[in-house]
Amino acid sequence: MHDASLTSDAARLARHGGRDALARALRDSRADTLATFAVYERALPGLRVPRREELNPPLWELGHIGWFQAWWLQRNPHRALGLRADPDVPRLTAQPADADALYHSSRVPHDSRWNLPLPDAASTRRQMQQQIDTTLALLADAAENDDALYFFRLALLHEDMHHEAALYMAQALDIAIDDPRWRPARLTGPATPLAFEATTRRLGLAAPEGFAFDNELGAHEVAVPGFAIDAQVLRWADYLPFVEATGAAPPRYLRHVAGRWEQKHYGAWHELDPSLPACHLTQHEALAGAAGPAAGCRPKRSGSAPPCRHRTASAGATSGSGPPAPSRPTLASSRIPTATTRRRGSTAGRCCAARRS
Ligand SMILES: [Fe+2]
Repeated sequence: MHDASLTSDAARLARHGGRDALARALRDSRADTLATFAVYERALPGLRVPRREELNPPLWELGHIGWFQAWWLQRNPHRALGLRADPDVPRLTAQPADADALYHSSRVPHDSRWNLPLPDAASTRRQMQQQIDTTLALLADAAENDDALYFFRLALLHEDMHHEAALYMAQALDIAIDDPRWRPARLTGPATPLAFEATTRRLGLAAPEGFAFDNELGAHEVAVPGFAIDAQVLRWADYLPFVEATGAAPPRYLRHVAGRWEQKHYGAWHELDPSLPACHLTQHEALAGAAGPAAGCRPKRSGSAPPCRHRTASAGATSGSGPPAPSRPTLASSRIPTATTRRRGSTAGRCCAARRS
């Protein structure tokens, strides 16, 4: 996740950038991948992580990132065709020969990734260096058009996505990440509500210029009823009065100690900055907090509390016994698309189907 990926300029670059800009972004993204992996090496003996649905073995993730580049670029005879490429075209020989058996995320079940005979970290780094050297050489010779650059842009977005996964894995594993770029930004003032009248909006892209994931294609009109939305996300300063007024259980990674709130950030407790965005809330907590204490939503610690009427059916609410177990997003649902809506065989979605890939 290169520096510029935190800005809208970076999103434009990833989708529309030319050869030189893509080469810089690929190098920057790789530097972030390796820097965060080095943090994992120092923090985790043997690079072991629990076998959990939202995690992957860090060494597997590292090798998979390099494999992905090779699969879609140097090993892909159709790499210059962009969205016209056949995603199932036979690939050139893998290097090393068992790379597909180790790192092909659609073929290697998630649960099995803890038991694979993976190369060690030093070997994996050397392999990745060869892969990105080849990628950059291919990029230098690529035509300066959207088809020819499509899979380079895909490789960039894929590596950025996996780096984002490495950061949330670090939060879940209490691994300290010191890079200030990955800390939340403070927000000023309470949110201002914005009102929107009913309208029709076009979603999706008709004929993409630059890069588009395949399930972003297919422009269509959607009727949107009138609605209001805050101009910024909720801050802790906005949310905590609900917790304090109702006695609701603090959200994950928050605690109240000696009269002050503290937040756990990448494994360390700090005094809470109330101007930071409220985060790690379950759907129930977010809905209850937004509705406020007067809306009848009550805390988990209050056994006689009535049910929260603001739960939704999709959240699985059955009673007023308190918030459900936290439901954490996974990459399969929120990062690289998995649907193949355009035609048989996804290109962008092919990597990261099923759980965390
Ligand atoms: Fe992936």
